Amino acid sequence: MVIRKLLSCVGKYKAAAILAPITIILEVILETQIPLYISDIVDTGINGGAGIAYVLEVGGKMILMAVLSMTCGILSAKFAAVAGTGFAYNVRNEIFNKIQDFSFANIDHFSTPSLITRLTTDVNMVQMAFTSCIRMLVRAPVMLVMATWMAVRINAQLSLVFLVAIPLLGVSLALISKNAMPRFSAMFKKYDALNASIQETLIAIRVVKAFVRGEHEIEKFEVSATDVQNAQKRAEKLIILNGPIMQFAMYGCMIAVSWFGGIHILEGTMTTGLLMSFISYITQILSSLMMVSFMFVMIVMARTSIQRIGEVLYEVPDINDDHASAALQVEDGSIEFDHVNFSYAKKEDNLTLENISFRINPGETIGIIGGTGSAKSTLVQLIPRLYDVYAGAVKVGGHDVREYKIENLREAVAMVLQVNNLFAGTIRENICWGKADATDEEVEAACRAAQAHDFIMSFPDGYETELEQGGVNVSGGQKQRLCIARALIKKPKIIILDDSTSAVDVATDAKIRQQLRQNLKDTTTIIIAQRVTSIADADKIIVMNDGRIDAIGTHEELMKTNRIYREVYESQQKGVA
Ligand SMILES: Nc1ncnc2c1ncn2[C@@H]1O[C@H](COP(=O)(O)OP(=O)(O)OP(=O)(O)O)[C@@H](O)[C@H]1O
Ligand SMILES: [Mg+2]
Repeated sequence: MVIRKLLSCVGKYKAAAILAPITIILEVILETQIPLYISDIVDTGINGGAGIAYVLEVGGKMILMAVLSMTCGILSAKFAAVAGTGFAYNVRNEIFNKIQDFSFANIDHFSTPSLITRLTTDVNMVQMAFTSCIRMLVRAPVMLVMATWMAVRINAQLSLVFLVAIPLLGVSLALISKNAMPRFSAMFKKYDALNASIQETLIAIRVVKAFVRGEHEIEKFEVSATDVQNAQKRAEKLIILNGPIMQFAMYGCMIAVSWFGGIHILEGTMTTGLLMSFISYITQILSSLMMVSFMFVMIVMARTSIQRIGEVLYEVPDINDDHASAALQVEDGSIEFDHVNFSYAKKEDNLTLENISFRINPGETIGIIGGTGSAKSTLVQLIPRLYDVYAGAVKVGGHDVREYKIENLREAVAMVLQVNNLFAGTIRENICWGKADATDEEVEAACRAAQAHDFIMSFPDGYETELEQGGVNVSGGQKQRLCIARALIKKPKIIILDDSTSAVDVATDAKIRQQLRQNLKDTTTIIIAQRVTSIADADKIIVMNDGRIDAIGTHEELMKTNRIYREVYESQQKGVA
């Protein structure tokens, strides 16, 4: 099924994929004629005394044959290359598109580096296998059949040599590939680990440098690189056995044929020219067997990759629109959690959120506070359905979030993630992620509300300032404000700020909240913060403790009744004093 799915990726390169084997068959047919000319030249031209003119004439035909066959070979290589690269292009697109449908949980399942290996190394493997399949896999059997047929026609008795050699070869090739398969799977796992190590270090290269962890990272890299090397050695060790076995069979056959052929010539039952042709056919037969064995290796290696690509293509996005109604739109920004349990591991005994119930009215501002790891981020990620609940229900605008099409839900719920990212491109382009057709005025309004306009204008290029990948050329606080602007421009019904002003100074933080209150009166605002001052004026504050709600109330109420809240507040006040 994976194979069929992959083959459908050939798409518009089908013509090339069909022409490649056709031209190669022509090549083989022409090539297998050549030994006949050899025997003709030797037997009639030289030994038969037909003269130099005859030799030249037959030789000329032979050269013509060779040129034609070569032309077909070249054409076939070209078609195969076109089909192969096109195929790989389509497969890559297919995987990439599929990954776009993945939920956070799906991505957690594969891990980002593994997805990258699958998109690159694995696709390369499959491409190589595909390209050689449409040529070699056709060439080898056709060559085998044609050459065997010719050889049998020359001398059936002598051809018995193959009857011994071929089964022996077949068995040893099968044994090799059977044992090599798991070793290749292991090798690709090590590749994943290597990629993970590279990716992590390179993404966080600044941290690595700041902590002078270069040496340590080099050691870590060397361990992964050595693992790959060893796994590769283990796998290839088996595969290279192929070579000697083939050579052994090839030379064994040569010796046997020369021996028995010599006897035939002495007995006068075979001419020298025919023996020469026969030996040419053996070379063709054995070289096609060699090709088969090479293909074998290729297919063994590609099988692992095909499997790994299949895993991605057949992964069921666990957040989908299956129960959604296309027409349903988010009416208002009310939120309700109804006895929600959540587990990253999807296990009853490993709950990250337990028995969460609360209601938020449209337009309210909610603060969430709690120790690190108390599951604040986990809680809010359920609202735009970045993850699905384990039990219970999350309702937005009076409907279970699973009833909305994901697109419609996320249109209405803007979330500034705790770990955020900007993309390579101008500031304007980044802001417009939230709304592709935003006007200049809208962009500016969003940036003003997020307190980003002033610093953007202080850049020489203003809104056209090029951001680098990951937004490394703006400060932490600037990046957070751009991310808030990117969410605000959607004019969402619900906006969630997950610790989004942690790197912004207190005064600017207050201005952002004031702007939100003024501009987004009907928008439900959820603010996760470490600073009590960031949420003290919220309509309701949820205090989280170890995956449960410890209390809900206003600042004043919580100060009176909730120990955790009071302690956090007092510790922060002390800091101020
Ligand atoms: N993708 C994930 N897979 C598995 N476990 C996770 C994942 N994300 C978070 N966790 C775990 O869930 C728990 C809650 O994490 P969460 O990020 O919700 O805490 P938080 O309250 O937002 O903390 P912080 O204040 O540090 O941001 C933690 O124990 C964390 O290890
Ligand atoms: Mg968090």
